[in-house]
Amino acid sequence: MADALLHVGELDGTDQRATLRPERFNRHTFWCGQSGSGKTYALGVVLEELLLRTELPLVIIDPNADFVRLGETRDGVDANVAAELSSRDIRVLRPSHLRGDPLHARFATMLPQSKAAVLRLDPIIDRIEYNAFLHLSETGATADTRALVAELSDSIDPGQRGIAQRTENLGVLDWQVWSGGNPPASEIIEQRPDATVLDIGGFAHAEESLTLVLSVLDDLWSRREERRPVLLVIDEAHNVCSPDLTGTLAVAVRERIIQIAAEGRKYGLWMLLSTQRPSKVHPGVISQCDNLGVMKMTSPTDLDELASVFGFVPREQLALASQFTQGQALLVGGFSSENGVVRMRQRFTHEGGADVRVPIRT
Ligand SMILES: Nc1ncnc2c1ncn2[C@@H]1O[C@H](COP(=O)(O)OP(=O)(O)OP(=O)(O)O)[C@@H](O)[C@H]1O
Ligand SMILES: [Mg+2]
Repeated sequence: MADALLHVGELDGTDQRATLRPERFNRHTFWCGQSGSGKTYALGVVLEELLLRTELPLVIIDPNADFVRLGETRDGVDANVAAELSSRDIRVLRPSHLRGDPLHARFATMLPQSKAAVLRLDPIIDRIEYNAFLHLSETGATADTRALVAELSDSIDPGQRGIAQRTENLGVLDWQVWSGGNPPASEIIEQRPDATVLDIGGFAHAEESLTLVLSVLDDLWSRREERRPVLLVIDEAHNVCSPDLTGTLAVAVRERIIQIAAEGRKYGLWMLLSTQRPSKVHPGVISQCDNLGVMKMTSPTDLDELASVFGFVPREQLALASQFTQGQALLVGGFSSENGVVRMRQRFTHEGGADVRVPIRT
């Protein structure tokens, strides 16, 4: 059906529609450009089009609250478009001190290796505690975590006492991310709303954001055999899959993303990743992307790197990106109908966190 094409803008220098093929989001997509080139704005355009023309559930990992207003259309937008968009089920999950539905993870239902990552437990370096932790996991004794930790601190087993001390030292029990009685984000995603925005930037500790992302990714991965499609959108993807990340939790998140990049496609776990420079995303992820969006990018090193990863794109075409202005994008790969330079259209919905302007004296 011709109408099902995603209308993302106009072909540069013309008034001809530029379109993406929605059915080709069954691959991973890499979107990059330097800061301010318009990536987040452009992602918003693509997400609006997917919401309008597909039933593909979107799970949006949003570190800067840029998509928290994805359900709100701007004044002046065509009434039919506004009505369509407002009929979509868009959930915005945010840390509980912010307006929105609460954004939570549930420790008890996380995978054992992910719980160990939250506690920064290494199976070799911390072998005594890790082993005690494994046996606790086996008994499933995790329902009331606070009571459990109190019990462990009185244990005669040094491994168990170590876990209690570790938990206290890391302050893990005080994290806002834990669900208490609320449904965790993974349960809401499981209901398959049209879009779920995860505003992960509002937590007090970076570890809470990583924990939340890990819990969601683990859940999607463990349900992969259901083969129900989902598009996982990750803006500022370097936060979760940079090759330079260190720390047990960040590495656990990255490894899961590498696994989804390598094996998720056939299960319907597709990703749309955005970042400023190709080197900021692990090669195991970027090398699995078939669709490419490039916005303004002046660094020759970055353009060379893109050319080497995306061998199907002619270098001369990539070089155009150094001259782009804000909102121009080279869209290439299976998802692009025209494989050319596009001027992205205006957004239908509000941006969450538009750039701050320099205050001018009047
Ligand atoms: N096509 C466009 N039309 C109108 N305004 C735009 C367009 N693209 C971007 N902008 C505006 O420019 C500013 C920067 O855009 P955006 O936040 O999308 O950049 P970015 O590439 O995501 O940058 P960063 O890497 O720093 O996150 C925003 O305030 C946005 O409103
Ligand atoms: Mg951005």
